[in-house]
Amino acid sequence: MEEAPMLFIPGPTYVPEEVARAQARPMIGHRSREFTALFERLIPRLQAIFRTRGRVFFVAASGTGLWEAAIRNLVRRKVLCLINGAFGERWHQVALANGKEAVALSVAWGQAIRPEQVVEALSAHPDAEAITVVHNETSTGVMNPLAEIATAVRQAFPDVLILVDAVSSLGGAPLETDAWGLDFVLTSSQKCLALPPGLAFCAVSERAMEKAKEVPHRGYYFDLLTMARYADRGETPATPAISLLFAADRQFDHILKEGLEARWERHRRMAERVQAWASERFALFAEDGHRSWTLTCVSNTRGIDISALNEFLRRRGKVISSGYGPLKGKTFRIAHMGEIQLHHIEALLTDIDEWLAAK
Ligand SMILES: Cc1ncc(COP(=O)(O)O)c(C=O)c1O
Repeated sequence: MEEAPMLFIPGPTYVPEEVARAQARPMIGHRSREFTALFERLIPRLQAIFRTRGRVFFVAASGTGLWEAAIRNLVRRKVLCLINGAFGERWHQVALANGKEAVALSVAWGQAIRPEQVVEALSAHPDAEAITVVHNETSTGVMNPLAEIATAVRQAFPDVLILVDAVSSLGGAPLETDAWGLDFVLTSSQKCLALPPGLAFCAVSERAMEKAKEVPHRGYYFDLLTMARYADRGETPATPAISLLFAADRQFDHILKEGLEARWERHRRMAERVQAWASERFALFAEDGHRSWTLTCVSNTRGIDISALNEFLRRRGKVISSGYGPLKGKTFRIAHMGEIQLHHIEALLTDIDEWLAAK
């Protein structure tokens, strides 16, 4: 079998061998005692990872599915979408595609969204029922000041729900669902949680669950009220991705054994190292003070051929990411998320330096 490259891309990330192997466990039925036991093991650990005592759910979908779930369940008519990169833009598209009146607060890519900008936008749209915010913009390497945004919104517009995309941050950077007053937080399995793709997870506040009761046409597959009804007896409405849940069962143990704070700190240290390296040789795309802990977006100030660099790295068993969408060629991205360790980063940077020196 071909040796898999070490993934320094922002998902899917490296999956530890024993986690991958857990998927091969013999199948069980999803209306069985064994499944309910698995369900009941997963929920409290998910709550620990989301830092919530409220509802948590898992679905057989990628994060995009839960973008739709958030909109369908929690927005009756109008939502304010915060946009400072490709993923904020896409969530806005999802809201429009679901027939909502979705107004946008757009900020230049590479800049963070400020709490006061959000308050100002909500003042212009006081009938918005919710905001959508991407915690960590994977396209630009900006980590938005989520706690500050949430505090400002809670203070000025206490009825507005705060819907958060934590796809590339949950498990790799601080996020406190309950303490920050977040109403819906979603993530994908294949990023900082270092699981294979195919699962998405979310935390939902009590008031969001209440709001869902008033929203018609919540859809079928992602109806939070149906999910809650089944969850109360340790089941899911439809057939779950059982093999992936076996992997999650194993990996959540590992994550909590490392400790969430220790995991965040490992990510922060890797970010610090990559960002120091990148600013000496190139420049950083994200503004100072708002740089991601889980990936670094490097401005290609030397005009290097990123595909050629990746070809070289591939021969060393590593792969990085090119810039996203309009940033292709202008930036490249190094992800330091999931199970990547500082020594993997050191090895990667040494290889890139060798390639740069030979130029
Ligand atoms: C911030 C962010 N949100 C959403 C998504 C979409 O997630 P998925 O591919 O799991 O549907 C991504 C994917 O990279 C992302 O980085």
